[in-house]
Amino acid sequence: MTDFRTPVPFGQTGLQVSRLGIGSSFTRDSAFIEEAVDQGVNYLYWGSIRRPAFGRAIKNVALKNREGVVLTVQSYTRVAALMAPSIEIALRRAGIEYFDVLLLGKWNAPPSQALIDAAQRLKDAGKVHHLMISTHNRPSLQEHFRRFEAKESPFDAFMLRYNAANRGAERDVFPYLKASARPGIVSYTATRWGQLLDPSKMPAGQPAPLARDCYRFALSHPDVNMVLCAPANREQMQEAIRALDAGPLDAEEKAHLERIGDHVSAKYKPQFNDGGDDVEENEN
Ligand SMILES: NC(=O)c1ccc[n+]([C@@H]2O[C@H](COP(=O)([O-])OP(=O)(O)OC[C@H]3O[C@@H](n4cnc5c(N)ncnc54)[C@H](OP(=O)(O)O)[C@@H]3O)[C@@H](O)[C@H]2O)c1
Repeated sequence: MTDFRTPVPFGQTGLQVSRLGIGSSFTRDSAFIEEAVDQGVNYLYWGSIRRPAFGRAIKNVALKNREGVVLTVQSYTRVAALMAPSIEIALRRAGIEYFDVLLLGKWNAPPSQALIDAAQRLKDAGKVHHLMISTHNRPSLQEHFRRFEAKESPFDAFMLRYNAANRGAERDVFPYLKASARPGIVSYTATRWGQLLDPSKMPAGQPAPLARDCYRFALSHPDVNMVLCAPANREQMQEAIRALDAGPLDAEEKAHLERIGDHVSAKYKPQFNDGGDDVEENEN
């Protein structure tokens, strides 16, 4: 892996994705999202909060080149009957005929069969093309991966927390990926809710890392296909894109970020724990 500019296969989906994906949660302006797509970021994720401005960006980029973008919509519903209406509304609001990926959000235990059937019906109807699941219970991914390898999983991709202060996935997720027929792997919380960027949370005398380096940290792990960012404005968007041009961390940069991560992890609690965090004294 020598650069982050080249799109990579998204598991076995046949989709090619940019290494950076954009989440919608803090976006109130569509223009800087459209600009990022022009700059080569092709993955737009409408969730956890479906901001209207992000929906407008999806509409505009899809009008220009629907095939050129990978569009993901999230559903948090636990009620199977509510899934289709929620996705239909999203399709109408975005003015598109299908989402490439339907993400079932925050499943710490496997979703019910009724939920999976509801998602599968959307797939059969061509409203979504692939299914993904996110979890805050990292070890649960081990069974998902086993089922994926056995071709028994409904899911094509998986989403999990990974950053310099939360490196538990190196222990309880990544080693369980098999060498062949990999699923798509997306990581979130690269900045640890902004803590890794906060000068007041650094070891004495040390500057805070740049946001680009937090995204580079996640992307430098060979098992991560894509890292999410959630920019609130153009400046944050452009800073995230700089990660793509900067490429992988060298050994010294990685060790430095790990030291900062260890400090932040020891001193500042995560907003909430992931399953797997309590295996050792802390996440790392
Ligand atoms: N489905 C799930 O299970 C799940 C789990 C986690 C996240 N998500 C979603 O995934 C997406 C990505 O979230 P994330 O937390 O991984 O994104 P992130 O980019 O790591 O974090 C976003 C936060 O980082 C700060 N930030 C970003 N760029 C910055 C910059 N250049 N300079 C200074 N601060 C910067 C912003 O803080 P300020 O507000 O202080 O500017 C913002 O609140 C979001 O849409 C989120 O809702 C989903």
